[in-house]
Amino acid sequence: MKLVEELEEKSASSSRSKSDLVGVNTILLELKDRLTNMERKVEIIPIVGMGGIGKSTLARNLYDDAYIFSHFDYRGWAAISQVPNMRETMLSLLRCPDEKLSEKLIECEDYELREILHKRLFGRRYMIVLDDIWSTMACDEIKMYFPDNSNGSRIVITTRDSEVAEQVASSKILHRVNFLDEYACRDLLCQIVFGEDDCPDELKGLVSKILSDCSGLPLRDWRAIVKG
Ligand SMILES: Nc1ncnc2c1ncn2[C@@H]1O[C@H](COP(=O)(O)OP(=O)(O)OP(=O)(O)O)[C@@H](O)[C@H]1O
Ligand SMILES: [Mg+2]
Repeated sequence: MKLVEELEEKSASSSRSKSDLVGVNTILLELKDRLTNMERKVEIIPIVGMGGIGKSTLARNLYDDAYIFSHFDYRGWAAISQVPNMRETMLSLLRCPDEKLSEKLIECEDYELREILHKRLFGRRYMIVLDDIWSTMACDEIKMYFPDNSNGSRIVITTRDSEVAEQVASSKILHRVNFLDEYACRDLLCQIVFGEDDCPDELKGLVSKILSDCSGLPLRDWRAIVKG
């Protein structure tokens, strides 16, 4: 228990940014290429992998990337979940910093929202992220709202389900997020706990135990493992 306390203390005092991604350079580059390549037709690009493996994190990283930001005229993000709510999805995609306009959108009927969304996307190069799709039905319905402007628009979906990914994808290429290798896992844990400092010798055993228990998942909450 004393070692766990020492690890907690180190973690609390670590000053380094805790938001760095590890072990995903290759898949990030592949996805950036899919998003910005010369294909003009609208494409659905699935990011697939088990729960907690890092799909939403990757999608968010792409969505916020400065180059991606400048490449698209319009970006929209919607969390879908198991029971999709089309109205909420449309409202998320129409995200609006202007409060008054937001209030007006909330008062709109569904068919009006569909029209507004269609107009907003029409003629623009857009990037839409549909995070956490559970069924092809959800995707089929939402897809109808997106015009094909033949200008390189992209729809990124994240899903745990390979079959859903295969069925909705525009090409045979799925972007699969795999377990982190041992080095990436160690890098992530050490970054979170020790920041710029090295792991002290007395904590090396405990760190190895945590790493073997999280088996390649990028778990940031290592406390759940030591206490579990
Ligand atoms: N490559 C990475 N480097 C560092 N941390 C990561 C990485 N990938 C994911 N994480 C962290 O792992 C946690 C889980 O990631 P995320 O929520 O993206 O998983 P997910 O695959 O979308 O899961 P779900 O299927 O449940 O939605 C988050 O705290 C995230 O910050
Ligand atoms: Mg997710």
